[in-house]
Amino acid sequence: YKRVTVKTLVDMKARGEKISMLTAYDFTMAKIVDGAGVDVILVGDSASNVMAGYETTLPITLDQMIYHASSVVRAANRALIVVDLPFGSYQSDPKEALRSAIRIMKESRAHSVKLEGGKEIKESIKRILNAGIPVMGHLGLTPQSIYKFGTYTVRAKEEEEAKRLIADAKMLERIGCYAIVLEKIPAALAKEVAESVSIPIIGIGAGPDVDGQVLVLHDMLGMTHEFHPRFLRRYLNLYDDMTSAIGQYVDDVKKQDFPNEEEKY
Ligand code: KIV
Ligand code: NA
Repeated sequence: YKRVTVKTLVDMKARGEKISMLTAYDFTMAKIVDGAGVDVILVGDSASNVMAGYETTLPITLDQMIYHASSVVRAANRALIVVDLPFGSYQSDPKEALRSAIRIMKESRAHSVKLEGGKEIKESIKRILNAGIPVMGHLGLTPQSIYKFGTYTVRAKEEEEAKRLIADAKMLERIGCYAIVLEKIPAALAKEVAESVSIPIIGIGAGPDVDGQVLVLHDMLGMTHEFHPRFLRRYLNLYDDMTSAIGQYVDDVKKQDFPNEEEKY
């Protein structure tokens, strides 16, 4: 397979070919995601929820993100790999942001980083880009700011926040970001943003009129089951299937059906 690069993605947008992106946090799942033909693998700080069981994305550390990212990098031969800079690893100042991004690139050998926010973190993004590290932006609902928002509801429904979001997207393109994630905003606004910039806009809960889509892997596989926002399409019900498979194993052990004659040495 030919590796997907940041240039591939920008070319895809120009051609009108949609970009598929999913999260992964470990080797085994990343191998499947990559093999299935997903263009971009996001090592998201949603690992904080999905892998570690925290309520928010805030607790996960840079070291933990690097551990997840290095596992994914060892698995993926084709997908472009982007890694979230976790909360607290880039907000203090641009130098800290660059140091964190360099650690991710060197220690995990991923291909790019993602940061949440617009003009507040402009200088940090510029620093990282100046070091030759590709940056994906993330606007709209930014879960690292959950305590500022107070809820995970749709963002930018008001005119003022929508205008700010469009300005931020244009700024991210101008300074050199290669793509932007738009999370949970009205579809009409996402469409307007995608039409206002030439870099790919990857939506999650942002409607169909963007350049690509991203979902959290464990959500779309139906492994998580308390979480059911409108934007989430479940392709499997692995929570139920796994519960039943594991239940059968428990039964087989109890009734001494496992292992059988062929399964022993
Ligand atoms: O961490 C994550 O999974 C993300 C996606 C929801 C875009 O940032
Ligand atoms: Na994230």
